[in-house]
Amino acid sequence: MKSLEAILNISRAERSDLQTILKLQYTAYLSEAAIYNDYALPPLVQPLEEVEQEYEKGIFLIATDKNDIIVGAVRAFPDGDTTRINKIIVRPDKQGQGIGTKLLLAIESECPSTRYELFTGHKSVRNIKLYERLGYARFKEEKVSDERTLVYMEKRVGTANREENLMATEKNIYRHAAKVYDIIYGIEQPMPDIPFYREYAKQQCGENGERGEYLELGCGTGRVALPLAREGFRVTGLDLSQQMLDIFKENLVKEEIAQPGISERVKVIHGNMADFSIGRKFALITAPFRAFQAVTAQKDIENVFACVREHLTDNGIFIVNVFNPYANPLDESWCREEVYIGEVTDEATGIRVAKYECREKIDPVNQVIYPYLAYGVTYPDGRTERLVEPLQMKYYYSSQLRAEVEKAGLVVAEEFSWYDKSPPGGKEIILLCRRKK
Ligand SMILES: C[S@@+](CC[C@H](N)C(=O)[O-])C[C@H]1O[C@@H](n2cnc3c(N)ncnc32)[C@H](O)[C@@H]1O
Repeated sequence: MKSLEAILNISRAERSDLQTILKLQYTAYLSEAAIYNDYALPPLVQPLEEVEQEYEKGIFLIATDKNDIIVGAVRAFPDGDTTRINKIIVRPDKQGQGIGTKLLLAIESECPSTRYELFTGHKSVRNIKLYERLGYARFKEEKVSDERTLVYMEKRVGTANREENLMATEKNIYRHAAKVYDIIYGIEQPMPDIPFYREYAKQQCGENGERGEYLELGCGTGRVALPLAREGFRVTGLDLSQQMLDIFKENLVKEEIAQPGISERVKVIHGNMADFSIGRKFALITAPFRAFQAVTAQKDIENVFACVREHLTDNGIFIVNVFNPYANPLDESWCREEVYIGEVTDEATGIRVAKYECREKIDPVNQVIYPYLAYGVTYPDGRTERLVEPLQMKYYYSSQLRAEVEKAGLVVAEEFSWYDKSPPGGKEIILLCRRKK
């Protein structure tokens, strides 16, 4: 049997191929139409003029067989850093032979980008599986009819920039759901940790921040950092998610209106907690709300502690918080289908957010869990949107986290299990660490 390479050629389409591509599109989408019982799907009714307009704006590739017959096609539209890939079609009798994969890889290399985006119908399981295999992850869903929801998927690829590289591989950086983070965690579950961090900020940085500075790793939207800045502390927030930092900055603008001058005390850094160098020392460093668990590779974990040590003043404190698996032993039974957690309405904007959680996968050997959070957002004008945030979290037993701390030349001064300073053994592990003298 000849290899696929030998019998398949992938090349740029000519304008004169468009009619054939469109016919192929009509045939290829019949199986999709059957899945949704909808024979008016947009690809099935797309007119030739529209395809011609797309041809002007985008890049069309075709797959031809040994007789020069077009058996597959794909189109893509580069837009800034993102390339939007559209309509990967394969002649029905040629499906399942890897032609779709070849087309997708070919269009990616034809359009060098740092991000690729595509979508498919929610019941098109084969497509979703194929895209996942090729490095795509879901990031958004859009309901287009009662029967059909579009699943949007993206793939981020390496650039020369290390942070961007990490972004491509590390999942837990809160990108897609940044815009609902404050609604959910500000209202639904206001964390009782702010007074706790405020107490240590006072102890370490002085009553009004006159003795030292505060650094927050994984600061997100400023849920903890901004209330501390409001009280006079000099705050630096570092986060790997540009989307979370954009919200942080929007929040800071509002704070500045309420309290002019506050922004002079606040610095925001787009960076990785496993690889940062700020050039100043801090009297208090924290990683609230389990942010540290987003770092899952052993070398990165060690680098977090090394960076922290480097940035702590001699009497500085690092407070690290993770959840305690002791309360809920983690094995395969941890996994579960998506469940509804609850919902909340933001009074100020009228936006309603329902939260769901799916416990997709667990790796008990490396102690990493892979949940995803999904948010169903309903806007006051009735528009709806589903945002999906795939996460990964390394989990630790107290003795393991302590061992990491000590390996890094730090010592554990105290351990709590809640923000009221409850003794160890409860829901959370909260370690107060100092430099070894
Ligand atoms: C659960 S949120 C906590 C945000 C904030 N500290 C709070 O308490 O609301 C975790 C944050 O850590 C950030 N994060 C994840 N990995 C990171 C990394 N390697 N470096 C910096 N930030 C990271 C995420 O983008 C996210 O904003």
